[in-house]
Amino acid sequence: MPDIPHLATLAVHAGNAVDTGSGAIRRPLVMANSYALPDDPSELSWSGTDTPLYTRNGGANQGWLEDKLAALDGGTAAVALASGMAAQHAVFFAALRSGDHVVCSDTTYVGTYRLLHDLLPAKYGITATLVDSSDLDTVAAAVRPETRLVHIETPANPTTRITDVAAVADIAHGAGALLSVDATFATPVLQRPLDLGADVVVHSLTKYINGHGDAMGGAVIGGGEAGSALVADIRREAMVNVGGVISPFNAWLIMRGSVTLPMRMRAHCAGAMAVAQFLEEHPRVAYVAYPGLPSHPQHALAGRTLDGGFGGMLAFAVDGDSAAQNRFVAALRLITSAVSLGHDESLIVHVSGDDERARYYPEKFRRYGHLRFSVGLEDPRDLIADLSRALDAVGS
Ligand SMILES: Cc1ncc(COP(=O)(O)O)c(C=O)c1O
Repeated sequence: MPDIPHLATLAVHAGNAVDTGSGAIRRPLVMANSYALPDDPSELSWSGTDTPLYTRNGGANQGWLEDKLAALDGGTAAVALASGMAAQHAVFFAALRSGDHVVCSDTTYVGTYRLLHDLLPAKYGITATLVDSSDLDTVAAAVRPETRLVHIETPANPTTRITDVAAVADIAHGAGALLSVDATFATPVLQRPLDLGADVVVHSLTKYINGHGDAMGGAVIGGGEAGSALVADIRREAMVNVGGVISPFNAWLIMRGSVTLPMRMRAHCAGAMAVAQFLEEHPRVAYVAYPGLPSHPQHALAGRTLDGGFGGMLAFAVDGDSAAQNRFVAALRLITSAVSLGHDESLIVHVSGDDERARYYPEKFRRYGHLRFSVGLEDPRDLIADLSRALDAVGS
């Protein structure tokens, strides 16, 4: 492919090429779990990842997807794994040892919280300090001599809090630590953390990058010397030996889904903005958290650091108790009550205010709970009509 830097062009072409076997102009689906060995395999490492060998050491579809993901995020290396959590675990597993310390956003996807708050400290003696990563002084104060990694998620699930990636990269590097960024909500369309100084980016491919709600996957993309070295460690240590490899079919589906990512993200952003504005003005809505609204605490930072939109995720609550939130969700006809996010269809999930992590959330999240809303690709007028009808139903 010629050197064309625009994201929409990369989304179409990166990782794709003519299949030399068949002449097909699309990468085929290669479901094999083993590859032919060279005539003399004596030099081969059975844990190696360079020569096609065994799909747990890297498969054909995985490799093509990794090429696309590295191009989209401007990285030098990428590894695709079975899920977003497999990718997140792989970063911690490869980067950390007993006695190491991590500074992590106190608001992240729950699996990341579980790993750093419960599992890695209890099992491996790795410690973590959870901080409000939008407060740079707090991040700097949490860093210790044994801090090896700073991990942030921006926009954060579920509050949509925004963190200044470039500023946190300076703090991490000043302390000799790496910075990893879970950019699942932003995708490379809205923000490329490697360009802002992060060492690795983590994505749940299950969400926007696949975009169609029909496959699980995760990826770590590295930039610079340290990021590329960490991806190589992940490939060797976490992928081959822990084994959370992506299936060829999921890699193929995600590669296909990712082609339309730039145009889908624009539609998600436009739909979410229209819905957020409608909800914020509605008398039965207690609050709305969306980075595109001037009422969002980091609205200005989001405007400066996200490119072309504020994402498709928002959180809000109906003015009422937990039963009212449930009645509202039950009254929706078009919007589906289900976990996950970033699909073509709109998804909503109610989490009550006594969630174990609510102490980290803004006061309104604690008082009312929250409805995490992934705004899909439907016409926003139909979404607003559905929301409006359900809001009326709650009151009656
Ligand atoms: C921000 C974020 N990171 C990671 C994950 C985990 O991804 P997966 O479900 O693919 O393991 C999720 C899942 O919702 C998420 O929202």
